[in-house]
Amino acid sequence: MRVVLGVSGASGAVLALDCARALARLGAEIDLVVSAMAERTLAEEVGAVALSDLRSLATRVHDQRDLGAGIASGSCPVAGMIVAPCSMRSLAAIAHGFDDGLMTRAAGVQLKERRPLVLLAREAPLTLAHLENMQAATRMGAVILPPVPAFYLRPQSLAEATAQIAARAVDLLRLGPPLAQAWAPARPAPHGGDQHD
Ligand SMILES: Cc1cc2nc3c(=O)[nH]c(=O)nc-3n(C[C@H](O)[C@H](O)[C@H](O)COP(=O)(O)O)c2cc1C
Repeated sequence: MRVVLGVSGASGAVLALDCARALARLGAEIDLVVSAMAERTLAEEVGAVALSDLRSLATRVHDQRDLGAGIASGSCPVAGMIVAPCSMRSLAAIAHGFDDGLMTRAAGVQLKERRPLVLLAREAPLTLAHLENMQAATRMGAVILPPVPAFYLRPQSLAEATAQIAARAVDLLRLGPPLAQAWAPARPAPHGGDQHD
């Protein structure tokens, strides 16, 4: 079971590590692609060893410029792809089919092969361009998963919140039993039905 993990230069670089750890828990082989700006956000937000920690969790580490890598082809047997975090630049490139670097090419491959593609698109606030690009990517089959904490689970730390977001991202690939903690009401809701996602 092979999964592509793309890491772009949006804030929330720790999500890449959380996703890699969650994929490793499932026993997935990770094909890692990290953009130049992601290297910077990993260093600034997580620390100097973040990139090497991330690489150590990967089965294959690809150069973003290597458009000849296996994952650039639809013939490569991968189960899906997560971009965590996904910058608005990478979102735009994916939404418009640029396929101009290995990350956007691999994402385009998932879409053309009708495989799962989960984008942890992160920006705030959002412009109309961001929203329209999310809409375009969604129309092609991508899942936009903004990295928003599951407040209803009352996370006790940022690490707990980001691990839960990563687990949800991996669960959306539907590769194995769910990793994410599910909402479990302490008592029945007053008007029936759960209201959480
Ligand atoms: C510290 C830092 C935080 C950033 N946060 C975001 C962000 O949350 N969302 C975003 O779209 N871009 C963010 N950017 C800008 C992107 O890194 C920039 O647009 C870059 O071109 C993205 O390139 P990539 O998609 O190839 O990684 C941030 C940049 C820095 C240095």
